[in-house]
Amino acid sequence: MTFPASDSSRDRATWLRAEINRHNQLYYTDAEPEISDQQFDALLRELQELETAHPELLTADSPTQRVGGAPIDGFQQIRHTVPMMSLDNTYSEADLISFYQRLQKGLNRERIECVIEPKIDGVAISVRYEDGKLKHAATRGDGQIGDDVTQNVKTIRSVPLSLAAGVPQTFEVRGEVFMPKEGFARMNEEREGAGEARFANPRNATAGTLKQLDSRIVATRPLDVILYGLADAGDAAVSTQSGVYALLKKAGLHTAEKVWRASSAEELVNAIRELDEVRKTLPYETDGAVIKVESFEDQRELGSTSKAPRWAIAYKYQPEQAETRLLAVDIQVGRTGALTPVARLDPVFLSGSTVSNATLHNFEEVERKDIRVGDYVIIEKAGEVIPAVVSVNKKRRTGSEVAIEAPIECPECKFPVSKAEDGIVLRCTNFNCIGQMIRRLDFLGTRSALDVDELGGVVAEALVRRGIVEQTLGVFELDEQKLGQLNLGTDSEPRLFGMKNAHKLIESLKVARSKPLDRWIFALGILNVGTVTARSLAEIHGSIDEFGGSSVLKDIVLESMLDKERQKFSPTTGANKRRTQAEKDELKKLETPIREELATVQRRLVSSGFAVYAKEAKAGSDSSLRSILTPVGPVAAKSVLDFFNSNEGSAVLKKLRELGISPSRESRESKGRGPLVGQIFVITGTLESMSRDAAAERIISLGGSVKSSVSKKTTFVISGASPGQNKIDDATKHGVRLMSEKEFLALIDTGPKIVSAEKPREDLFDF
Ligand code: IVH
Repeated sequence: MTFPASDSSRDRATWLRAEINRHNQLYYTDAEPEISDQQFDALLRELQELETAHPELLTADSPTQRVGGAPIDGFQQIRHTVPMMSLDNTYSEADLISFYQRLQKGLNRERIECVIEPKIDGVAISVRYEDGKLKHAATRGDGQIGDDVTQNVKTIRSVPLSLAAGVPQTFEVRGEVFMPKEGFARMNEEREGAGEARFANPRNATAGTLKQLDSRIVATRPLDVILYGLADAGDAAVSTQSGVYALLKKAGLHTAEKVWRASSAEELVNAIRELDEVRKTLPYETDGAVIKVESFEDQRELGSTSKAPRWAIAYKYQPEQAETRLLAVDIQVGRTGALTPVARLDPVFLSGSTVSNATLHNFEEVERKDIRVGDYVIIEKAGEVIPAVVSVNKKRRTGSEVAIEAPIECPECKFPVSKAEDGIVLRCTNFNCIGQMIRRLDFLGTRSALDVDELGGVVAEALVRRGIVEQTLGVFELDEQKLGQLNLGTDSEPRLFGMKNAHKLIESLKVARSKPLDRWIFALGILNVGTVTARSLAEIHGSIDEFGGSSVLKDIVLESMLDKERQKFSPTTGANKRRTQAEKDELKKLETPIREELATVQRRLVSSGFAVYAKEAKAGSDSSLRSILTPVGPVAAKSVLDFFNSNEGSAVLKKLRELGISPSRESRESKGRGPLVGQIFVITGTLESMSRDAAAERIISLGGSVKSSVSKKTTFVISGASPGQNKIDDATKHGVRLMSEKEFLALIDTGPKIVSAEKPREDLFDF
């Protein structure tokens, strides 16, 4: 039973919603955050808890709705109020000039003002607001009818769920959903880590994500949106394309950082050349420029063909390519043992950098493209930071090229190779393979795992190859002195890691020990366990020790096996439908006991709260059975069980115990308790012993909070080398005490003993 929400809960929820929306806008649209991610999460969590306790406080536009809801069976369709047209393309400056001449002819005048926008390489979207609230969002579909992807679009933080005041409250906007380059790279790294296929480029990743039926997954993907058009202007008085930008901005919507203007063919050509330079610095992929006539009146006069407007055109840039010689093919061993062929190339300059490596994706691809060592190959940077080999210039073949064979043994440890279930990825099956260990160690330090900045690929490789770390978790036993002497170079050309770096790494590892359970689960690098699954697993289990014999995971696997088995015998599925009645009766007899067992397992999962029934049973079909939804699927559940039941998995558990590392759900919840509770820190300048992020994590893990600007509420400003003058001035103004790095280290090392929760002891610091 829940109690009615009191006025204070209601006020608090209203305040939290406004505050979260304000920080969202600061972070995503203005790029000027005021609080840390952790502080943001804390606000969101508080609101979530309030809404769970008092469901009547929940509103459709609450920012908690951005975390996604239960998966759906398929998308509803939405008919666009105004069709979503496409654009004609041009590929040369000459064609662009012809376009401009057509405009001149059509409008019968010399000067026609145009705007030029980056053409974002994403997925077109239409977003409708009614009465100030986000009503729905739809993909283009066939231009007339698209998929209702509202739940997925709601997870995009830069899309306001309700509009700012002072602008028309009903309109429909058009734009592009995309995945920023950086987020894309990070996501692919994580996917690879979890043994999942990488997305080929940010556009595919965006399209794949928008098509997700489970918006909770979408919420974890780094999507963003840029809006550029108005389909239904409502009662907005807008008469130019520039007016559209102004309205969108005022409404709090994300628009392109920069647009160009041109009123002659020459200016147009200059603009697209300049945009070609600028687009390389944009945080997202662009594949061209879109040229639009500025005045709506002119647009109306020019009209449209059945497919595309005559008042706009897309100018496509050639993806930059280069031709170079394939010198050799190396095989890289991934964290889960996946073997990836990598092309070593004769270095060549491409899109701003010298390229000497390119991915060949997999051996099937090598065979399909008939790529041989010695070939001249065409390489391209298409969304990936790592360039890819697109094709072979067969005209330059001499006959001396050598075919590339798929390996039968792992190049690092010589274990036999096995083909993964998808039939494409080849894998080394030796968990103790040195190649896998290097990648696992490198992965352990990545941001979504334990976030140990100093533990990059080079350090991981040196630690493993030099035998200093013999199993991944051995990194927690490193000796600082020895680590300082670590040679990252070769024997003939040594390059020492150095004491300062060694100290930083050791400090970061100390912080990593108390990372919450979900981060640890992810960091272990279990096949099929990505960040989302790791989070769900952490919700189900209180600690890592609970995994090995997890009855919930066993039930999830069992449920799926029984369901498959049952379907084989079910008289109402697949080919069985065509059998005779006598045969069906026989099948039914075989199916019944399985069905009963399945129902028992399902009931067990549902009643213990780890599953929900997906939907009511369809009338007339298997009335006693329904499908269930579990936060962790059977594939991941099996992977986790296999891992912890294997020798390697038990060794990991044993090692964690030896190291005294016991990540638990509490680590996350313990925020808000600890010796630094109520103390607000601001960090400025560069710290010697650790990164600012690591310092912030440390403060938070001790119960304190970290802000990015100084106010009278700030307890301490930690001042490193080259501090920000504003922060120092603000600290002086508000009488906030400055703390040196040394004092800070003393505080966190002995914090629990010397600092009371209420008031720091001033006599300990030399101000
Ligand atoms: S305007 C009727 N502007 O490119 C004209 N489109 O190839 C509507 N695109 O369907 C499109 N950036 O998905 C426009 N700045 C931009 C764009 C843009 C990307 C996409 C959009 C469109 C496709 C046409």
